[in-house]
Amino acid sequence: MSKRTCLAIVLAAGEGTRMRSALPKVLHPIAGRSMLAHVLTAVRGAHPNATAVVVGPGMETVAGEAERTVPDAHVFVQAERRGTADAVIAARAAIAKGADDILVVFGDTPLVSAATLKRLRDAIAHNVSVAVLGFRPANPTGYGRLVMNGHRLVAIREERDASDIERRIDLCNGGLMALRGEVALDILGRIGNKNAKGEFYLTDAVSVADGMALEAVALETTEDEVRGINTKAQLAEAEDVMQWRLRDAAMEAGVTMVAPETVYLSADTKFGRDVTVEPNVVFGPGVTVDDNAVIRAFSHLEGAHVGKGASVGPFARLRPGARLGAKSRVGNFVEVKEAEIGEGAKVNHLAYIGDGRVGDGANIGAGTIFCNYDGKAKHRTEIGKGAFIGSNSALVAPVKVGANAYVGSGSVITDDVPAGALALGRGRQVNKPGWTPSNGSSAKPKSAPAKKSLPKPALKKKTAKKKS
Ligand code: UD1
Ligand code: CA
Repeated sequence: MSKRTCLAIVLAAGEGTRMRSALPKVLHPIAGRSMLAHVLTAVRGAHPNATAVVVGPGMETVAGEAERTVPDAHVFVQAERRGTADAVIAARAAIAKGADDILVVFGDTPLVSAATLKRLRDAIAHNVSVAVLGFRPANPTGYGRLVMNGHRLVAIREERDASDIERRIDLCNGGLMALRGEVALDILGRIGNKNAKGEFYLTDAVSVADGMALEAVALETTEDEVRGINTKAQLAEAEDVMQWRLRDAAMEAGVTMVAPETVYLSADTKFGRDVTVEPNVVFGPGVTVDDNAVIRAFSHLEGAHVGKGASVGPFARLRPGARLGAKSRVGNFVEVKEAEIGEGAKVNHLAYIGDGRVGDGANIGAGTIFCNYDGKAKHRTEIGKGAFIGSNSALVAPVKVGANAYVGSGSVITDDVPAGALALGRGRQVNKPGWTPSNGSSAKPKSAPAKKSLPKPALKKKTAKKKS
């Protein structure tokens, strides 16, 4: 089979009306990655020689996502949305190059695996002209039904066009199909649009092939692989399936998850060995966590790197560009963005570290703020190795604190602090003796009105009455 050539065609021209969204359907994310990128990643695993992506007019963002994921993908525009067969024909120029196998994959079926796409190719390698992926959904509403005659697949009936008896068929069309290259254009050219929607249905490739005495077959797979996403509810179902795949893969690779059902991963989350993830942690796109790190409960990470043996949270937020060194500690309610935390450095609670660097072994006290924004531009703060920043300090960037320097609590640091120096940038404490809350001051003002002593209310003597 490896010698056979293959063209993969991904259909992504549909408007996705049922999503009720301004975002084209195939760009909706699952585990932080667009549906289209998921599909193209599976397609890549089936080793096509060329990949075509069919988009609608004006769908530049979809074309862009396709090219980002598969740089040598050919993008074709379907001028009018006249159905799935018409969409395949939009890639005619690619089909005409004469690949042995043509794989047609829907952009809204993001859970498909490379192995399943290979099964479809394999069928074509064994003299089949049309191979369709079937499944038995819990709820078949909306799916095309596979009409079998013994082992032969003779037709696919769309729900709107199906008779009551056909609707009772539980084997449905997953939407993925492989066509024998040499007959593909012939079959596609014979598909008409006499149906309930007046569209050119790719599904009619089956009855057309049957009429040409060419063999069509159905391969079966699980519902989770071919869930088609038409609505936001189906998007959420697919997300759930994907999350479990990612959690299982992470645990399989040795990650300890106390409550995996509460941990949200991205398709590109990477873990080293012996990482522990506590409950309720969210990993946005672009996170790598090295060996032995601990991500404590309720932390949110995105575009961040966590070094070996580092500890994050609970309740920490690592934003894009956060890079935590080995054995560093980022405590609770700390936010880090575009900043490097050195090896063994410690950032205590309620700190904001934005744009800059904390040197190895430095200690950032609670409530420290990197004042990185002056209202117009962002500036950097650099804390040297082993420096100590007292709690509740504000470091007004651009500013540098040298190695082993010490900043007193509550300082507002606007000038660089030399290495080894003590910096104090705060008002001096004043103690005024004898102050009482009633006169507001320790010194009695001359005109102060004489204190009126209120007559004490006559206290009733408690008389212990004997109960009679
Ligand atoms: C389709 C199948 C149905 C199957 C189901 C599986 C047809 C006619 N029906 O129905 O048998 O059970 O998928 O999920 O094929 N598209 C275009 N151009 C168009 C129309 C659609 O590119 O003119 C693309 C869409 O972007 C989408 C895919 O084709 O990625 C499927 O279209 P959709 O309208 O979602 O088909 P379904 O009604 O779900
Ligand atoms: Ca669909």
